[in-house]
Amino acid sequence: MDNPLASCFADSAHYLSARVVFNRRIADRTFRIRLDCASIAAAARPGQFAMLRLADRTDPLLARPLAFYDTFRSADDVQPHGPAGERRYADFVYLVHGKFTSALQHVAAGGEVVVWGPLGNGFSGVPDSAHLLLVAGGIGQTALLALGRERLDRSMSGDAAVARRVTLCWGARTAAMFGGLDDFRAAGIEVHLATLDGSLGRRGTVIDLLDALPAPAAVPGETHVACCGPEAMMAAVSRWAAGRRLGCHVSLEAPMACGIGICFTCVARVRDTDAANDTNGETWDYRRTCIEGPVFEAGRIVWEA
Ligand SMILES: Cc1cc2nc3c(=O)[nH]c(=O)nc-3n(C[C@H](O)[C@H](O)[C@H](O)COP(=O)(O)OP(=O)(O)OC[C@H]3O[C@@H](n4cnc5c(N)ncnc54)[C@H](O)[C@@H]3O)c2cc1C
Ligand code: FES
Repeated sequence: MDNPLASCFADSAHYLSARVVFNRRIADRTFRIRLDCASIAAAARPGQFAMLRLADRTDPLLARPLAFYDTFRSADDVQPHGPAGERRYADFVYLVHGKFTSALQHVAAGGEVVVWGPLGNGFSGVPDSAHLLLVAGGIGQTALLALGRERLDRSMSGDAAVARRVTLCWGARTAAMFGGLDDFRAAGIEVHLATLDGSLGRRGTVIDLLDALPAPAAVPGETHVACCGPEAMMAAVSRWAAGRRLGCHVSLEAPMACGIGICFTCVARVRDTDAANDTNGETWDYRRTCIEGPVFEAGRIVWEA
């Protein structure tokens, strides 16, 4: 069954050429870029994303999705974030990966980037909980900072705080990949790290880190999990949460071409009792993650991994 609200996320998107305020390296192959894009920044909510394209090039032709990392009223980051509707600058954090991000790292302050957004449902479906457990793998932390801050002080929406505690468990290959840890700490988020090579935090995966959390960190009915990262990692976190009867939402990072529901590049298999597709007695349908996601209840995803 189609979600009747899905297309409204794309309908409210803005399209513009945005000036780059800065574009600086914050960790190994990881950059933070700030764009002057008032109509987009003012409307962005935690977990939503924008599509970005290089302004002066046709290669790559297709835009790439990046999650909103943070939004600001002032270009110099000194002023507080301010009410959501008054924000003018949007920050994105990206890993230099392929064609687009390799070129983006060389766009200097004063340059232009074509951007449309905000897109997607964001984390609006994540229920209030006393403890929000954020779980990131690789570059997946970018979608989670704004959610954690919103749940602690509601600075993006102006409402009262809804979480007593927000914890980030972040796993990466090695210590050099972590950028922006102070952003999470400054927002009041408790940070735990894992590296595969043991160079920082616990040696192992983010699942090893979750298993080692102090006892009250994962209490059914009190703790909710929000997760973003590579698919295999999100599948593992989803199983970890289900095994402890914790609610869990995941933000999928499916490759996208249009970001507005037209091309079907971004589909994911989502459980649906009304759907015709049947695999081993489970019914599912393809969902466009750009307009019906990228955030889904973890238990609804038919994981490939
Ligand atoms: C909603 C959303 C939010 C995102 N937010 C961020 C973010 O904040 N920061 C960030 O660095 N990245 C983010 N991504 C991922 C980013 O859009 C992709 O990595 C993008 O392809 C990078 O473009 P590129 O041209 O540099 O690499 P590409 O040339 O597009 O990709 C290089 C290689 O990776 C493969 N690939 C591309 N996308 C994916 C994927 N999602 N999963 C697995 N393999 C893939 C391609 O097939 C290709 O082989 C997000 C993705 C989504 C859907
Ligand atoms: S990216 Fe085109 S339909 Fe989702």
